[in-house]
Amino acid sequence: MTSPSEFLTQQNERVHNELFDLLRIPSVSARSEHAADVARAAEWVRADLARIGLTASVHQTEGHPIVLGEWRGAGPDKQTILIYGHYDVQPAEPLALWESPPFEPTIRNGKIFARGAVDDKGQLFAHMKALEAHLATRGALPCNVIVLAEGEEEVGSTHLAPFIEANAAQLRCDGVLISDSAMFAPGIPSVLSSLRGMAYLQIDVDGPGGDLHSGSYGGAVVNPAMALARILATLHDDTGRVAIPGFYDRVSEWDPEVRGQIRALPFDERRFLEETGASVLGGEAGYSTLERIWTRPTCEVNGLLSGYTGEGTKTVLPAQAMAKVSCRLVPDQTPEEIERLVRAHVDRMTPAGVRISVRMLHGAMPWRASLSGTLYDAGRRALARAFGREPVIVGEGGSIPVVHDFTHVLGAPVLLMGFGLPGENAHAPNEWISDENFVKGMQALAAFWDEVAAR
Ligand code: BES
Ligand code: MN
Ligand code: MN
Repeated sequence: MTSPSEFLTQQNERVHNELFDLLRIPSVSARSEHAADVARAAEWVRADLARIGLTASVHQTEGHPIVLGEWRGAGPDKQTILIYGHYDVQPAEPLALWESPPFEPTIRNGKIFARGAVDDKGQLFAHMKALEAHLATRGALPCNVIVLAEGEEEVGSTHLAPFIEANAAQLRCDGVLISDSAMFAPGIPSVLSSLRGMAYLQIDVDGPGGDLHSGSYGGAVVNPAMALARILATLHDDTGRVAIPGFYDRVSEWDPEVRGQIRALPFDERRFLEETGASVLGGEAGYSTLERIWTRPTCEVNGLLSGYTGEGTKTVLPAQAMAKVSCRLVPDQTPEEIERLVRAHVDRMTPAGVRISVRMLHGAMPWRASLSGTLYDAGRRALARAFGREPVIVGEGGSIPVVHDFTHVLGAPVLLMGFGLPGENAHAPNEWISDENFVKGMQALAAFWDEVAAR
């Protein structure tokens, strides 16, 4: 009889073709002109879940749809595991920097290039094929399974928490398994111990009633671009610390054991620097690079807009300026409190002559894993089987908003084991997933179902 693992090997070509079909759909959640594509990707995921043997449905929201798949064949005595992933992707721009078009997947040098290849379509799809491998070869899974796939992760998962709250009874589960992150290095499978949270704000500065001639008015009217620049310059002090009063009040220090574990990881600082293309690294004084990313909060400018930015010159005193600013949060900071602190700070720093509005765009709670229990043990063993070595424990600087809700609304432990790699260009041009990791990831996820059953 064919095993799930052998099934995946035999079906390798078809599996790749299907993944490429999914990657061809430009399901960019941030852009309204792609709303129909996001809906098409939702329907694609639903249809594939139905085809492999789950009861699958698409749920409309005020934003993008949520796909729900269920397999309850193990019966009420068995445990239920929920798989979460997202089928939406980040915008592909700037298009000119892609070596092959973002929605025409291609394999080069063992890497599958496409927007969403690693974040998160490739990893969500690996879960779907691991489920298919079990259902196709054994006609069953060893426990009940829920698949929850959303189309708004990249824009803050606004409608997912209410959906989970409204359907908490149906979504009740014993554990949540997510692959939407990266391994520490090639060949080193990794389990995530933390995610940072987020407070994303937009600052709008309004000055004169309209753009003014910078010769006729400049020097006599407060310039909104300069006012904004001065405010942004007060967000940090000279040592790289965030200078918003109260910002660190609720930051809990990582315990020395975790700091020790982080130090023990074979982190190659020079490679990391090369990967960024920057000339030197910089950040909060007193912390290593990994500590800065995994354990410390930040406040970053994500976008700036004001005045004339086209070809040549234009002598203008702009009427407006705008900045997008996001803070990454660590336990026990909350998006609500950080929003309040940023508002108060920006208000204090606003000069006379301009009006400022601060808008909160979205927030996410930070999260720390409890690295024990049957879910965690099964994950470790599955990774060890597929990759031939024990996983390492890593932190993460990114955010997955819904993880906190799984823990707090469903009361379920969450296990994050991802198959990306450093340098994968998530959110950037030329995003890729290592084909080897995609294949071994499917094998690990297929092994996971045996390991949860064997506990
Ligand atoms: N998959 C990422 C989260 C992530 C990033 C995990 C890096 C591991 C490494 C996710 O799709 C993402 O990009 N999240 C956003 C969330 C935001 C829009 C609220 C992020 O972190 O910027
Ligand atoms: Mn993701
Ligand atoms: Mn992402």
